[in-house]
Amino acid sequence: MPITIAVGTQWGDEGKGRVVDLLSDAADLVARFNGGDNAGHTVTVGQTTFKLHLVPSGIIHPQTVCLMGNGMVINPLSFLSEIEALTAAGVEVSPVRLFVSQAAHLITPAHRLLDQAQEAARGAGRLGTTGRGIGPAYVDKTARSGLRAGDILDQAGLLAKVNAHVEQVDCLIRQLYHGEALDVADISAAFVKKATRMAPYIADVGAIARKSLAAGKRLLAEGAQGALLDLDLGTYPFVTSSCTTATGLFGGLGIGIQPVQRVVGITKAFQTRVGDGPFPSELSGEMAVRLRGTGANPWDEYGTTTGRPRRVGWLDGVLLRYVVEISGISELAVTKLDVLSGMATLKICTAYTLDGRAVGGEFAVARLGKYQPVYEELPGWGEDVSRARRMQDLPAAARGYLHRLEEIAGVPVSLVSVGPEREQVIRAS
Ligand code: GDP
Ligand code: IMO
Ligand code: MG
Repeated sequence: MPITIAVGTQWGDEGKGRVVDLLSDAADLVARFNGGDNAGHTVTVGQTTFKLHLVPSGIIHPQTVCLMGNGMVINPLSFLSEIEALTAAGVEVSPVRLFVSQAAHLITPAHRLLDQAQEAARGAGRLGTTGRGIGPAYVDKTARSGLRAGDILDQAGLLAKVNAHVEQVDCLIRQLYHGEALDVADISAAFVKKATRMAPYIADVGAIARKSLAAGKRLLAEGAQGALLDLDLGTYPFVTSSCTTATGLFGGLGIGIQPVQRVVGITKAFQTRVGDGPFPSELSGEMAVRLRGTGANPWDEYGTTTGRPRRVGWLDGVLLRYVVEISGISELAVTKLDVLSGMATLKICTAYTLDGRAVGGEFAVARLGKYQPVYEELPGWGEDVSRARRMQDLPAAARGYLHRLEEIAGVPVSLVSVGPEREQVIRAS
């Protein structure tokens, strides 16, 4: 069972890039299977910080082959800039170790404009999208009118397809959203010219994955976003447009259902959310500033993709337990434990009430916005934990906090991250 799936258990930005980088040591293949450049995965190696949006975070390990699956939506322009940035940083990204599925859908500049026009039209009911065109590209996919990476290989037909798509978006933007007309011919020609440069990377990624697995290669799957942003099981409609749980791997990479060795649920030691939508354990005021940081540290809570300040709050144990169930999490990788150092008391949300009555077994994620959090208080710790490398190096209160998380989640903590650097990690044994 050489498959490990690493996924976010919250609303994204749990530290997936950082954990996937650690797990990539023991992987031959690293694959993304959902989302697009709405993701921002940070990996710090020595003096270099990589911000990956599309390419799997495993690319930094030279022994890996990296796959971008059919479940993704890919903006070729972002892809090419990422390739350039990685090459400039000395990472080898040639099409012998990085492959894009021919069945992945494409995001064009028109999708981005439409995403932004739709958000503007939603007004106060906005979702807080990243504005990257994710929703519109998945809409086209589901409507069976999308552009796919494989279309780039059809030189003769590509311009006409892109043109028809941009024309359609232009019509929507003008007539439905009363926006300015798009220069259809210009946008289409410029897009086609650049997108063609992605051609060498396009391959039958599903076949590569299936063949590699049959040969006993070790596959690490890197989820984007977090389970609570899942299109079906998250806090709809304040979600993204893809399957963000571990179950999305099979369909999103083109491999059959098969046993999985580990499903690592990456969990920040507190809760954050960057877009709109319900967040029962959200904090405001001084406490929020304390958790978010002011932006002075590179890891402070400001979006990797959009730079927006993230909303912050206490860890939500009710939601964590739900996510363990829906994503089949077998173990937790807890990140940013170091950020909690110096807080006298910590809270974890362990239950909800609705109109003063305990919610208990009637919990439904669709009613999250109506719930009030019930907290359990735990003692904090004053010590800096960023140099801890073994569980026993942690103060008793920090171990107590992790232990309580294990009890609530019902699965063990196998890894604890105490800083963004590669060596700032505790592997539980
Ligand atoms: P992702 O989207 O899940 O990959 O997470 P992001 O990269 O968007 O955000 C996580 C941020 O926290 C990045 O700046 C990481 O470098 C940083 N980070 C990850 N783990 C730790 C940790 O244990 N401690 C600290 N202080 N920062 C961390
Ligand atoms: P990573 O992989 C945090 C959020 C947006 C918005 C909602 C819909 O870095 O964890 P979209 O642009 O996808 O249509 O936006 O989803 N969102 C993320 N939040 N981390 C992400 O990715 C996100 N990707 C999307 O903020 O609330
Ligand atoms: Mg992120």
